[in-house]
Amino acid sequence: MKKRIFSGAQPTGNLHLGNYLGALKNWVNLQNEYESFFCIVNLHAVTLPQNPEVLRQKTLDLARIYLASGVDPEISTIFIQSDVSEHAELAWILSCIARMGELERMTQFKDKGKGNAERAGVGLFTYPVLMASDILLYQTHLVPVGKDQKQHLELSRDLAERFNRDFGETFVVPEPFIPPVGANILSLQEPAKKMSKSDENANGSIFLLDDADTITKKIKRAVTDSGTTIEFDEARPAISNLLTIYQLMTGKTPAEAEAHFGGKGYGHFKSELAEAVVEFLRPFQQRVKDFDDAELNKILKDGAEKARLIACETLRDVYAKMGIVGAET
Ligand code: AMP
Ligand code: TRP
Repeated sequence: MKKRIFSGAQPTGNLHLGNYLGALKNWVNLQNEYESFFCIVNLHAVTLPQNPEVLRQKTLDLARIYLASGVDPEISTIFIQSDVSEHAELAWILSCIARMGELERMTQFKDKGKGNAERAGVGLFTYPVLMASDILLYQTHLVPVGKDQKQHLELSRDLAERFNRDFGETFVVPEPFIPPVGANILSLQEPAKKMSKSDENANGSIFLLDDADTITKKIKRAVTDSGTTIEFDEARPAISNLLTIYQLMTGKTPAEAEAHFGGKGYGHFKSELAEAVVEFLRPFQQRVKDFDDAELNKILKDGAEKARLIACETLRDVYAKMGIVGAET
C-alpha cells in the first residue's frame, strides 16, 4: 500500500511563484510515490470576505492551475473541498477537542485578523481546525506545504494524537513535507516578508499568469541588497531570494547558479532571471488556457467521488468511537 499525501490551496487572489515553488512543484514530484489528494479549499477561502462570483471563477481557475503544474488526474485525486461535506463535519468534532489556547497561539490568525480578535470572524480563528480535518479525514502520512503552514501542521498532529489517546487509535499522525529550498520565497519588494497573494504591492509577487512584460518589469524593479556579487548570503536576503528563484527555475545547483553569474553585475543577472522565469511560465500558461471545461468538470466530479469514499469511512469510525449515533446509523 502506498502512503498518502494531502495538500491544498485556497482559491483566492492570484497564485504566485512562491505557491508553485513551495507547494505545487513538490506535489507533482511526489505524486508518483504516494497516493495523492489535492484539494481546492473553498471553505477556507470564506474565512475572509469573498465576492461570490469571483470565488466561483477562482475555484475552477485553481483546478486548471493544478493541472497545468503537472498534477496528473490519472494518478492523483483533485477535488473541491465543499463537494465532500465530511470536511465540515469532522471540523466540528475536532473543534470540540481543540483548545482555545492552542488556536490563540497560531500566528497566521494574528496576521490575517490584523491583531484585532474582537472583529475577526470565528471561522478565521478555527481555520486550522478545518485544515486538520482536511488532512486527518484521508489518513494522510505526508503534507507538502510551504514554511508558513508548519504551525498548522503541528496542530493537526496534536489533534490526531489527542483523539487517538482519548478514543483509541483512529487517525494517522501526519508529517509535514517542507522543501529544503523554495519553502519561503520572499517578496521582491520587501524581502523581510514572504511573497504573498494578499500583498497590496503587486510588484512584490510574480503571479503565475503574469505576462512576459510584467514579469520582466517586476524583476528589474526588485530590491537588491548592498554589495555587488551574485552569491547566496544569509545577510543579503534579497539577492539570495532571486538566486533561489533562478536556481529552481533552471534546475541548477546553488554552486552552479553562483558560478554562472561570477563576475557579472545585477543588471545582467536580472535580465537572465527574467528570461528564465518567462520561459518557464510560457508553456505553463498555455496549458492553463488549453484546458477544456467539460474535461475539467469530469475530473473534479470523479475526484470528489473518490475522496468521499475515504472521508465517509473515517467519519463513520470517528462517530462510532465517540458514541455518536443517530436513528439512521
Ligand atoms: P495559499 O495560497 O495560502 O493557499 O498557499 C498554498 C501553498 O503555497 C501553501 O502550501 C503555502 O505554504 C505555500 N506558500 C504560500 N506562500 C509561499 C511563499 N512565499 N513561499 C513558499 N511557499 C508558499
Ligand atoms: N492553509 C493552507 C494555506 O493557506 C491551505 C490548506 C487548507 C491546506 N487545508 C490544507 C494545506 C490541508 C495542506 C493541507 O496555504
